[in-house]
Amino acid sequence: MCGIVGAVAERPITEILIEGLKRLEYRGYDSAGLAVLNREGKTTCIKRQGKVDLLAQAVDKHAPNGTTGIAHTRWATHGAPSERNAHPHQSGSRFSVVHNGIIENHQGLRESLIAEGYTFNSDTDTEVIVHLIHKLSTDYKDLRSTVFAATKQLVGAYGMVVSDSQSPNELVVARSGSPLVIGYGLGEHFVASDQLALLPVTRRFAVLEEGDVAQITRDAVSIIDALGEPVRRAIEESDITAEASGKAGYKHYMLKEIFEQPEAIRRTLQDRIIDGNVADDAFGNGSLELFKDIKHVQIVACGTSYNAGMVARYWIEQTVGISCSVEIASEFRYRESFVHKDSLLVTLSQSGETADTLAALRLAKSLGYSTSLTICNVETSSLVRESDLVYLMKAGPEIGVASTKAFTVQLAAMLLLSKALCEAKNINQEFCEEAGQALNALPAQMERAFSLEQPIKALAEQFADKQHALFLGRGDQYPVAMEGALKLKEISYIHAEAYAAGELKHGPLALIDADMPVVVVAPDNVLLDKLKSNIEEVRARGSVMYVFADSDDHFESAPGLDVVNMAHANHLIAPILFIIPLQFLSYYVALVKGTDVDQPRNLAKSVTVE
Ligand code: G6P
Repeated sequence: MCGIVGAVAERPITEILIEGLKRLEYRGYDSAGLAVLNREGKTTCIKRQGKVDLLAQAVDKHAPNGTTGIAHTRWATHGAPSERNAHPHQSGSRFSVVHNGIIENHQGLRESLIAEGYTFNSDTDTEVIVHLIHKLSTDYKDLRSTVFAATKQLVGAYGMVVSDSQSPNELVVARSGSPLVIGYGLGEHFVASDQLALLPVTRRFAVLEEGDVAQITRDAVSIIDALGEPVRRAIEESDITAEASGKAGYKHYMLKEIFEQPEAIRRTLQDRIIDGNVADDAFGNGSLELFKDIKHVQIVACGTSYNAGMVARYWIEQTVGISCSVEIASEFRYRESFVHKDSLLVTLSQSGETADTLAALRLAKSLGYSTSLTICNVETSSLVRESDLVYLMKAGPEIGVASTKAFTVQLAAMLLLSKALCEAKNINQEFCEEAGQALNALPAQMERAFSLEQPIKALAEQFADKQHALFLGRGDQYPVAMEGALKLKEISYIHAEAYAAGELKHGPLALIDADMPVVVVAPDNVLLDKLKSNIEEVRARGSVMYVFADSDDHFESAPGLDVVNMAHANHLIAPILFIIPLQFLSYYVALVKGTDVDQPRNLAKSVTVE
């Protein structure tokens, strides 16, 4: 949450900062600001409430001209979204800071800084950082030592960048709990929360480690670790192209990302199945050997990734014959859970930076899990770097806040994990073959499912004036219903709930009337007859139903019952296919309602605070 960009260069950097913020807007978009320093140290600070475009317009008017600068797009934690609370925060018009994270001991620091005469101009936790740095600056010889000393007094999470008008050719950055990468150019250096921000200016990046503090000048980057020892962090070339993070002509990132799913799955499975078997290193070196003895799988995740974990539980228990639990990371991390013997901990995460999931992994390491595996889309992320085993999803950058392609790629990876566990244990050959074939066929079947776009677009009109919706499914389609409901509420703000259809009579049936549309995920599988009875119970109570099916034989559209049929698919991959019509549904409902599809209110994509 919150996006940070910084630059020290020969050339003017304002445009680089603004472009970087636009590329980071998925991290937060309630206000934005920048501070630009010219060679003499004159600092121009501009902030606006609202999106980066408003800041860009203000910047165009004032045209701050400088070669060093910091910028920020905010997702409010402490203090309402407002110009006053927007970053950068400043102390004595000398120091400026942008920050991502939460300073948990801000209250105590604030009181002591006020007692020493500092005046606070915002309600943020961040402002304590800049006054603390100001206060300590008289005791230390340079900015990096000052920031290093300040970090020792901070409790909580931060990725921060600091500028000092008395030293206008440097920035100092510090990381603990919130990601930061350094971008290496020729005679210029950059910093950002995510390399996406800097792709137009460099492809060479180093990821800062926890506790690192770095000084960045035009010519050099010098880093010290949490103990104050000089360190080097590997510089690597990014293989993400600047275009991969664009909209490629689509109206929204979300729509682009829906259509990217077949290709994302092809890439993710490529070289991971060899001669019908899971490649030895698909889940990391030595993983198959480790999987042999696994007797329990614990999945931990948040949001859409949690829903993917819920589907995976059905596959793992049914095909591998071992127990599998799935838990929301923010719950898992704060309770005393029972650790089964020979347990595999699996974290699922698009970003690899979700604070609760990361904390859950760190906790699990102390709890005696046999090994930890992350299935993650960002190679440089904390989850990837801290897990024993890694399955890197190759979905490409996902920028729409409502996750789409990450979900289906996670599911493909989890089906492959079930296969890998079976192969390692030398069991269930039949499933292993079936899963291999089904996964091979998956991208083409997803492409066929895209033909549903137009019929669903027409249905979406009927949802636009609704306040609530129910989503129903059974078995491994129940979590698909959960994901469908999550998509609808995230981007169209319609209250949507998912129920296991068998649970209807235990409460939700009381809600049914003509104003409560009911969406049913109804593939032709062993539970279909049960589901049909549930559908009849709802119809009898006058609801308007939308049934997504894959067999012409079972449902016919009738008044109050719209049936959308897709091609029949192997039951193993049906959950991966049935989310596609629900993604379209939420997208087109949001479009009719005119909400902000890619940046829905109050949300952010990368939730780096708990
Ligand atoms: C946020 C995003 C969701 C995402 C969730 C977990 O809520 O808006 O799309 O599913 O975080 O994120 P992760 O990166 O861990 O998958």
